[in-house]
Amino acid sequence: MTRLVHTRAELAEARSALTGRVGVVMTMGALHEGHEALLRAARERADHVIVTVFVNPLQFGPNEDFDRYPRTLDADLEVCRRAGADLVFAPAVSDMYPEGAPQVRLDPGPLGEDLEGLSRPGFFHGVLTVVLKLLQLTRPDLTFFGEKDYQQLTLVRRMCRDLEVPVEVVGVPTVRESDGLALSSRNRYLSDPERQVALSLSRALRAGAEAAEAGRDAGAVLTAAHAAFGAGDPGARLDYLVLTDPELEPGPVQGPARLLVAAWVGRTRLIDNAPVLLHPVS
Ligand code: PAF
Repeated sequence: MTRLVHTRAELAEARSALTGRVGVVMTMGALHEGHEALLRAARERADHVIVTVFVNPLQFGPNEDFDRYPRTLDADLEVCRRAGADLVFAPAVSDMYPEGAPQVRLDPGPLGEDLEGLSRPGFFHGVLTVVLKLLQLTRPDLTFFGEKDYQQLTLVRRMCRDLEVPVEVVGVPTVRESDGLALSSRNRYLSDPERQVALSLSRALRAGAEAAEAGRDAGAVLTAAHAAFGAGDPGARLDYLVLTDPELEPGPVQGPARLLVAAWVGRTRLIDNAPVLLHPVS
């Protein structure tokens, strides 16, 4: 049975009844198959699964889509029930931030100012602050994050390492449509023609990965990815397309690497990424 709780008091009471290994999956709702993969991974690794559903105002900029972000709690609950979650915590903003927006927020460090952080100042301050609060409230042994938001996953891992947060952070591979589009709650904003345009992102990643498999160097991998990004219908506006080390550390890349892309399709900003294996230059 899946129990829905809204307040911290209800959560504390329900959490104290859970024994064994507890896994938490944090979401902003609008659950799709990507979230279902997180829930499945949590189900496999933990004795009990908690899902949090909270659209966190702290991580939205003034011109972002906080108000229009989809809120679909009934459907989300159904997904959680089917996946066998034990507990769903869906607090109101006033429950998460009873004294208003917190004065003290987590500083994500230099990585928080790069890539997504460049276009979305303050975004990772808001993400890490709510993630740490939710970890404190749910006290899990394991927490599951999608690789789709790779910079977020990397920063959550880094936060837990740097601040001694006693939880195992598990990354779960991106779920894609059959044509390659990475699942995202924001895909529902795309019109049919925009959805076609959105394929530029996964096409670029595939081309980059194929170039790497063919033994090409980092420069050639990026060139192939850029060419594939621009090869389709016009319409996607590239924000960044970069090849980095898997920890997103600056510096030259070799061996296992990560290709990351962000682009605007109409009014919708999409991100995607893929692992790439660079062969040693002989
Ligand atoms: O990835 C998300 O949905 C959000 O950034 C998260 C981790 C739930 C924090 O609000």
